[in-house]
Amino acid sequence: MIRAIDFKEDILYLIDQRRLPIHEELFECKTHSEVEYAIREMVVRGAPAIGATAAYGVVLAAKEFMNDNKEDFLGKMNDALDFINKSRPTAVNLMWAIKRMRNKLSEYKDLDTKQIYTKLKEEADIILKEDIQTNKQMARHGNEVIPKGATILTHCNTGALATAGYGTALGVIREAHYTGKDIFVYADETRPRLQGGRLTAWELVKENIPAKLVADNAAATLIRDGKIDVILVGADRIALNGDTANKIGTFMLSVIAKRYNVPFYIVAPVTTIDFDIETGEDIEIEERSSEEVTHVFGNRVAPMGIDVYNPAFDVTPHENITGIITEEGILKPPFKESIIKIKK
Ligand code: MRU
Repeated sequence: MIRAIDFKEDILYLIDQRRLPIHEELFECKTHSEVEYAIREMVVRGAPAIGATAAYGVVLAAKEFMNDNKEDFLGKMNDALDFINKSRPTAVNLMWAIKRMRNKLSEYKDLDTKQIYTKLKEEADIILKEDIQTNKQMARHGNEVIPKGATILTHCNTGALATAGYGTALGVIREAHYTGKDIFVYADETRPRLQGGRLTAWELVKENIPAKLVADNAAATLIRDGKIDVILVGADRIALNGDTANKIGTFMLSVIAKRYNVPFYIVAPVTTIDFDIETGEDIEIEERSSEEVTHVFGNRVAPMGIDVYNPAFDVTPHENITGIITEEGILKPPFKESIIKIKK
């Protein structure tokens, strides 16, 4: 299984997703600042993967400050948690993981710093392990809506690289493939950072899942021509009413899917639901640098002097979503009711 995140002897090893698929290299983090950098610069990306990485960032912080006195240790840990929490704004799994680690820190604050470090490491390991189990559960539920011989369209990267392993939407695709459903996948390349072209395509090729890569603007034609049976995408944050923030371009796909009656599913763990916000209007959408649009692999493709608008995510309104596939089962509209029912 592809493992994007691995923690051994106080070093966090991340597959450097900026370099794939040309270079398969590991990026090493030995400090919490390096973890913050890795999330901000998208060495690691994808909502659940960011959450698990952040948890190990907290472990590394505890290691760094272990020899300080307790008061300094707790003060520095608090700053480190805040620092990592702000590394990216949209995927709520980051804030969820930091909150979970903060709660552990507070639960064990009376232990000595070495023991606190051990407790935090145990918690990060659990987060990583739980994410893989959750993905497998989602995959089993999701597989129920995949007809035999289905052609599936997906956007961005929602696979092993975007999670602790297996994936969300790509996890369902894996499950359908490995249970002999004889599926075919169209993967959007996902400009500007090409998570589909570089990462999803890499995972599909590695596992021999029959697929074609398409430019994002080919999706409408495929859907209109009746070539797509179901659309599966991931999520970065889901509001109580079901509005879903995901990679830019997802909203556009959902509109076309609705126009041509193609089922449109979100696949996401419960940790991606933000129970504190009512609608997608409350989701902060990250805007990234203009270079992501003006350049491709470091080469300028737009003229000097052009201004750029580069939102990394958009919000798909709940009315465009057929169902939300979670580890707790498939949530159906009205989403507010089904989401509240699974609140833990
Ligand atoms: O900017 P990214 O690459 O972190 O965005 C990732 C996505 O939008 C994914 O589709 C999302 O996290 C899906 S869940 C694995």
